[in-house]
Amino acid sequence: MAEAVLEVRDLHAFYGESHVLHGMNFSVPKGEVVTLLGRNGVGKTTTMRAIMGILGRCVGSIRHRGEELIGLASEKIARQGIAYCPEERGIFASLSVKENLLLPPVIRDGGLTLDEVYELFPILRERGASQGTKLSGGEQQMLAIARILRTGAHLLLLDEPTEGLAPVIIQQIGATIRRLRERGFTVLLVEQNFHFAATVADRHYVVEHGQVVDMIPNGEIAANEDKLKTYLGV
Ligand SMILES: Nc1ncnc2c1ncn2[C@@H]1O[C@H](COP(=O)(O)OP(=O)(O)OP(=O)(O)O)[C@@H](O)[C@H]1O
Ligand SMILES: [Mg+2]
Repeated sequence: MAEAVLEVRDLHAFYGESHVLHGMNFSVPKGEVVTLLGRNGVGKTTTMRAIMGILGRCVGSIRHRGEELIGLASEKIARQGIAYCPEERGIFASLSVKENLLLPPVIRDGGLTLDEVYELFPILRERGASQGTKLSGGEQQMLAIARILRTGAHLLLLDEPTEGLAPVIIQQIGATIRRLRERGFTVLLVEQNFHFAATVADRHYVVEHGQVVDMIPNGEIAANEDKLKTYLGV
């Protein structure tokens, strides 16, 4: 296994009195695409929020390149080159595509230029002057991913990027994630659709009730299909 960029050990998280992560354990090797697969409400988004330092209380360990993130302010975590694309996408509806792309802070070297973004997402060049609200769901998702690429992050946390999108758009998102992997990005991807996850990822961690209950290398996904269907309730 390549060196782990991210190492999560015995992570517990709380919303007030409510204890929602119960000892998460997983690693994300450098240059891999790794998924967290699981049903609604198992704690996938909470795990991403914990990594970004935007959650109330966490206990345990989240190491990025060996450095502990728990206790660091979220802006310090971002400055280490970690970026989060939330389920709700977080683009500015009233701004144009180009304005959305010019807005994110470039927080470290290595952020993609506008031309590099347009090379990855030709549709965004075409739609440059369109307002965020005028974009299709797929275009909004591409813009949301493009925005975090502008920051200079090397570790990308993508929360259900295919949710609510048509199959042909899901294929485009898949092609984009594979291209990001080729360019050397490391990706932690939250998914419920394991058929899609199998087209982009190197390994899959299955999450239930705030814990990782299984790890399936992508090459073994076909042999584990029945088990995965049970885990995911599909
Ligand atoms: N702000 C909050 N306050 C209290 N409880 C919350 C909050 N956000 C999430 N939860 C609870 O924490 C648990 C985990 O939620 P989380 O959003 O991490 O799940 P998820 O796996 O991302 O689900 P989904 O697939 O629906 O996005 C759920 O029981 C949820 O109801
Ligand atoms: Mg979620």
